[in-house]
Amino acid sequence: MKMNLIKDVMARVAGTVAVVLMGAGMFGAPDASAGIANTKHNLGSSTGPASRVNSFSGTGEICVFCHTPHGSDTSAAVPLWNRVLSSPTIYTTYNSLGTSSLDGSTAPVGSVSLACLSCHDGTQAMNVMINQPGSGGYNSAGGALTGTWSGADQTNGMISDGLITKIGTDLKNDHPIGIQYGGGPKTGSVPAAPADYTNTLFRDADFNSAKSAVLNGQSVWWVDTTGGTAGSREKTDMQLYTRTDVTAVNKAGDGSAITLTGAQPFVECASCHDPHTENTTFLRIANTGSAVCLSCHIK
Ligand code: HEC
Ligand code: HEC
Ligand code: HEC
Ligand code: HEC
Repeated sequence: MKMNLIKDVMARVAGTVAVVLMGAGMFGAPDASAGIANTKHNLGSSTGPASRVNSFSGTGEICVFCHTPHGSDTSAAVPLWNRVLSSPTIYTTYNSLGTSSLDGSTAPVGSVSLACLSCHDGTQAMNVMINQPGSGGYNSAGGALTGTWSGADQTNGMISDGLITKIGTDLKNDHPIGIQYGGGPKTGSVPAAPADYTNTLFRDADFNSAKSAVLNGQSVWWVDTTGGTAGSREKTDMQLYTRTDVTAVNKAGDGSAITLTGAQPFVECASCHDPHTENTTFLRIANTGSAVCLSCHIK
C-alpha cells in the first residue's frame, strides 16, 4: 500500500516533469545560457557579448552587482538589492520643467528607479556592493570589491561622462519617473485592486486603462501590451509600480499639494525596461511603430 503510494507519487512527479519539458519546448522557452549574461548588464569578468564594453576582473559572477542572497538593503523596493542607494534629494525631477500639460503628481525619486540610478546616476563605482561574493566581505555601508575595470564606457568603474547611458542626477531631460499613471485619479484615490483602473477615472484620459490584481496581499497594476495574454501580468507588459510611501506630493504647475490615499500605480524606470532581457536597450517589448509609447499613451 505504502509502496504503491510512493510509486504513484513518483509517477506523478515524472509526469509533471515531462509536461514541463514539453511546455518549454512548445512555447520556445529560452535556453539556460540566454538572458542577462548576453547583455551589458553582465559586468563580471567571465565572457559576454562583443557589445558588452565594461567588465570587472574581481568576480566572474553576474547577479552580485545588483543582488545578494543575504544581507540586502531592505530600504530598497527591489528584491535582495546589493547596492547602496543615493538620497532622493540629489535628483532634479522632470516636473521642475513646469510643462503646463503635465497632470500627474511627482513623488520623490524612489522605488525601482532609485535602484537603476545607483549605477546610472554615475555617483558610485559599480564594484561597490553591500555583500561581496565569497566568505565575509559584508559592509552595510557598501565596500569596494578588489579588482580592475576595463572597457571604454566607464571611468573608475562609473559610467563615463558624456554617454547617454549616464542618466546623471538631473532627470529633467528624461521621460518622467516617479509619476502617477494617467495623471493620477480624479478623486485622490484609485479603486482597490483587483478592480481595473479604467481611464474614465484618470485626470488625463489620454492613457490606456490599467489592469490590476492582488499578489501576495499587495495591489499591483500594469498596462497590457499586445504580446502576451490579455489580463494577466507578464514581463512584456508595461509594469506600474505600487507606491505607498507617498502621502502628499506637489502637483506640477500650480504647486499645490494633494493627499493620496492608499496604494497607487506609478511609472518608474522598469515600467518600460526589464534589466534582465536581451531585447535592445532592455525594453520590455520592441519599440517598432513606437509600440512602447503607444501601450500607455493614446495618441
Ligand atoms: C543590473 C542590475 C541587475 C542584475 C545584474 C540582475 N538583476 Fe535581477 N533585478 C534587477 C532589478 C532592478 C529588479 C527589479 C525589477 C522590477 O521591479 O521589475 C530585479 C528583479 C529580479 C527578480 C524578481 C523579479 C523578476 O523579474 O523575476 C529576480 C528573480 C532577479 N532579479 C534575479 C536575478 C538573477 C538571478 C540575476 C543574475 C543572473 C539578476 N537578477 C541580475 C536588477 C538586476
Ligand atoms: C550595477 C550597475 C547597473 C545597474 C544597477 C543598472 N544598470 Fe543599466 N547599465 C549598466 C551599464 C554598465 C551599462 C552599459 C553602459 C554603456 O556601455 O554605455 C548599462 C546599460 C543600460 C542600458 C542601455 C543598454 C544598451 O543596449 O545600450 C539601459 C536601457 C539600462 N542600462 C537600463 C537600466 C535600468 C532600467 C536599470 C534598473 C532597472 C538599470 N539599467 C540598472 C549598469 C547598471
Ligand atoms: C516611459 C518609458 C521609459 C522610462 C520610464 C524609462 N526609459 Fe529608458 N528608454 C526608453 C526607451 C524607449 C529607450 C530607447 C531609446 C532609443 O531607442 O534611443 C530607452 C533608453 C534608455 C537607455 C539607453 C540610451 C541609449 O540611447 O543608449 C538607458 C541607459 C535608459 N533608457 C535608462 C533608463 C533609466 C535609468 C530610467 C529611469 C530613470 C529609464 N530609462 C526610464 C524608455 C523609458
Ligand atoms: C508605462 C507607461 C508609459 C509609457 C510606456 C510611456 N509613457 Fe510617456 N508618460 C507616461 C505618464 C504617466 C506621463 C505623465 C503624464 C502626465 O502626468 O500628464 C508621461 C509623460 C510623457 C510626456 C510629457 C508630457 C508632459 O505633459 O510634459 C511625453 C512627451 C511622453 N510621456 C512621451 C512618451 C514617449 C515618446 C514614450 C515612448 C518612448 C512614452 N512616453 C512611453 C506614461 C508612459
